[in-house]
Amino acid sequence: MKFFVDTAEIDDIKELNDLGMVDGVTTNPSLILKSGRDILEVTKEICGIVSGPVSAEVVALEADEMIAEGRKLAEIADNIAVKLPLTWDGLKACKVLSGEGKMVNVTLCFSANQALLAAKAGATFISPFIGRLDDINLDGMDLIEDIRTIYDNYGFETNILAASIRTVGHVQDCARIGADVMTAPPEVIRKLASHPLTDKGLEQFMKDWAKTGQKIL
Ligand code: E4P
Repeated sequence: MKFFVDTAEIDDIKELNDLGMVDGVTTNPSLILKSGRDILEVTKEICGIVSGPVSAEVVALEADEMIAEGRKLAEIADNIAVKLPLTWDGLKACKVLSGEGKMVNVTLCFSANQALLAAKAGATFISPFIGRLDDINLDGMDLIEDIRTIYDNYGFETNILAASIRTVGHVQDCARIGADVMTAPPEVIRKLASHPLTDKGLEQFMKDWAKTGQKIL
């Protein structure tokens, strides 16, 4: 499973990318707001750091304007994936932009039927939002499972990009089900390394090592 990092914070992207933990980046208008940066400038900087797909989201609501914004965003770099909302207009824009050979990430997906439409419109990525479904007492992971089954039934090549990931459990479940990609905030990716038994074991090793009185360097 590929790892995308869901942020527009340059320091986090650099740190995780240097570790080989970043196969791509996703941003959205809320993350751009949080960064305090200009969308074109920060997206260009991210594309200079990460070689994989970098999702940049349009903000128009009508297809023609979405297409124009998508074309402008795609000019930033070759690795831009134009992010479009899963609306009827978004699907129209997806069909046109994917037809031009641009990568398209269809976002704000909350049902398997929506994912089916995005695949038929030629999306490169579909972004089902797990955490936001969990927030309203639905199981976001059921959606990932349903989309996986439907895409496999018909051989759709659209990549399932599990989004709105909030916990390390979400990451593990996505990998088990077979999501192609997951995008998570930097803090969730870092937490994947943690285990209480690792901390406990290390503490004991350090105590015993101190008793040996030895040094390696
Ligand atoms: C993905 O592309 C979205 O930007 C993101 O995962 C949304 O996550 P949230 O529901 O935690 O805001």
